[in-house]
Amino acid sequence: MTDKPIYVTQPYLPSLDEFTPYLRQIWDNKILTNGGPFHQQLEKALCEYLGVEHVALFSNGTLALITALQALRVSGEVITTPYSFVATAHSLLWHGNKPVFVDVEPETLNLDPAKIEAAITPQTTAIMPVHCYGNPCDVDAIQKIADNYNLKVIYDAAHAFGVQCHCGSVLNHGDLSVLSFHATKVFNTFEGGAIICPDAKTKQRIDHLKNFGFVDETTVVAPGINGKMSEINAAFGMLQLKHMPAVMQRRAEIDATYREGLKGVKGIRCLPKAGQIVANHSYFPVMVDADYPFSRDELYQRLKDHGIYGRRYFYPLITDFPMYRGLPSAARSNLPVATAAAQKVLCLPIYPNLSSDAQGRVIDLIGG
Ligand SMILES: Cc1ncc(COP(=O)(O)O)c(C=O)c1O
Repeated sequence: MTDKPIYVTQPYLPSLDEFTPYLRQIWDNKILTNGGPFHQQLEKALCEYLGVEHVALFSNGTLALITALQALRVSGEVITTPYSFVATAHSLLWHGNKPVFVDVEPETLNLDPAKIEAAITPQTTAIMPVHCYGNPCDVDAIQKIADNYNLKVIYDAAHAFGVQCHCGSVLNHGDLSVLSFHATKVFNTFEGGAIICPDAKTKQRIDHLKNFGFVDETTVVAPGINGKMSEINAAFGMLQLKHMPAVMQRRAEIDATYREGLKGVKGIRCLPKAGQIVANHSYFPVMVDADYPFSRDELYQRLKDHGIYGRRYFYPLITDFPMYRGLPSAARSNLPVATAAAQKVLCLPIYPNLSSDAQGRVIDLIGG
């Protein structure tokens, strides 16, 4: 048994002393929310950091996903992946859309473009892929299908903060991309999220929608929601941004150490990178194959017995939850790759403060 439990992740927190001056500013100016100064600063700073045109901050990624659907007036069926966090599909139900599940690619575990067309019906209006683990989807293939069938594309980019693909930020693909700044994410604001959008008009509509649909003091144009990020969260985001280079570098080191340390372990397969030019190393998934001496669940338990808490992420599949499993597209026979992945994948601990010692123990336990 190790001294202290090692969890799959640990939120990154700069020192409290560093945050105090930010709090003092909020206390001095008494603006707590509704697009205050830190909110404005963070939107601007994130545009620069991420290399995107417009950022609309949210109180969390789930409300951002729902608002993205509302902003683009998505109706009817939406094609999406079963291999994600449940919020992806939940956002569709909350917005009154019908999720249509399509299988994933075996290498990236992202929505398989080759299988999308067969799922399109006259009711399909959009595609909601996920850049799973921060590995970019095949954005060009997906856009081609969307153009052919006149579909909107909303990327659930909750895992893809800071990721760059062949043409710059991966967040510039599709009609909109949605980030999560939840405590477990590479960049966190405790809770938080954002919609990335390419034009000022859409950003304005999103800003109205996240504030109950108000466009001025007396005019409400849509049944918007309260999705606003508070000043405390935005101020914390400004501080977090300063630490991002160090956070990203440490994550990259941990990723490289796992790849090296697990290289010779028969039956353990690290997920290959999916062509990103800049990765964010947000997760470290491994596949536990049949030639490993233990099943994935046995390895999960073995690590747990030693105080190491990996995560079977994503297991169960979204399509196994009761509100989805009755849909024809949720049948396991329709989703063989995702079904197999959910049985094999284990995410290993990765976070900036993971010590080399602790990581060594994880590698030794898996290898030995
Ligand atoms: C893929 C994915 N989509 C959506 C969400 C929801 O984001 P939030 O927790 O900020 O609402 C998360 C994470 O929590 C996620 O991992």
